[in-house]
Amino acid sequence: MATWSAPGKVFLFGEHAVVYGKPGLAMAIKPRIHVTVRRHRHPAPAKSPYVEQCFRELGVTGSVYVMSQMPSSAGLGSSAAVTVATLSATNDEFRLELDREEIATIAHRIEQAVQKGRASPTDTYVSTMGGLVLIMGEARRRIPPTNLSLVVGNTQVSHSTSRMVELVAEERQRCPDVISPILDAIGALTLEGLRKLDEPKELGRLMDVNHALLDAIGVGHPSLTKLVIAARAAGAFGAKLTGAGGGGCMIALAPRTGKTRITGALDAAGAKAFITTIDTAGVRKEHDA
Ligand code: PMV
Repeated sequence: MATWSAPGKVFLFGEHAVVYGKPGLAMAIKPRIHVTVRRHRHPAPAKSPYVEQCFRELGVTGSVYVMSQMPSSAGLGSSAAVTVATLSATNDEFRLELDREEIATIAHRIEQAVQKGRASPTDTYVSTMGGLVLIMGEARRRIPPTNLSLVVGNTQVSHSTSRMVELVAEERQRCPDVISPILDAIGALTLEGLRKLDEPKELGRLMDVNHALLDAIGVGHPSLTKLVIAARAAGAFGAKLTGAGGGGCMIALAPRTGKTRITGALDAAGAKAFITTIDTAGVRKEHDA
């Protein structure tokens, strides 16, 4: 029996633009998913298509127990975390000797297979490595971690990542002269954000602009607008949706002393909110239950 856990993630900048090879900046966050894998010749069929695909890829069979601290389909990368933790626990249980880079690569392949080719490597790479990661086309660069203080607000409006990605593709085809420059601008914001990681006020302003641009390409939602406005009014340096949009979660960059106030304001505006910060560990082995 082997138990491994992997973290969720938020996009600080660049979601959707990364699908078109523009830079995006993502950060692993504290809520984790724990997965226990045990060798089993005739296990019950896996409930998750991600878990099923992990066994298919690795050519072994086992039983799986999943314990999640984070909401699914909310833009926090839960499917990537399940995939990365399942692959790592299976790797350990069957002594397959895969390293973390290989785990990240296989996990991305699995997400692509399950999501029909519409997954960037962001979620799986960040969940595997932890910390802050700059994604740009095929390149992934690990950035020295900074201790950003974030509040996550879950609208509890469920969304489909693949549907939102499809929607942007349709908009881009319909109106290329408008949508393509916006995606370019989102990429430029990512690079600007990277330079301002130690300047929260400036970083927050860039997050506000990123949110407006995401709204402009059609992935906003009234519930997200409400939360973003509530967070700013409660003192956040800035706020934006995170992930695919159309529902799901938003993040607010909080002053060190203002996190509780922002959390309260988000809750009062109808969200499920929690305070979080960077996870630097990535996927890791846990003591077996
Ligand atoms: O909803 P999430 O957390 O899977 O984020 C999706 C982010 C996109 O850029 C829209 C798609 C992707 O695969 O990067």
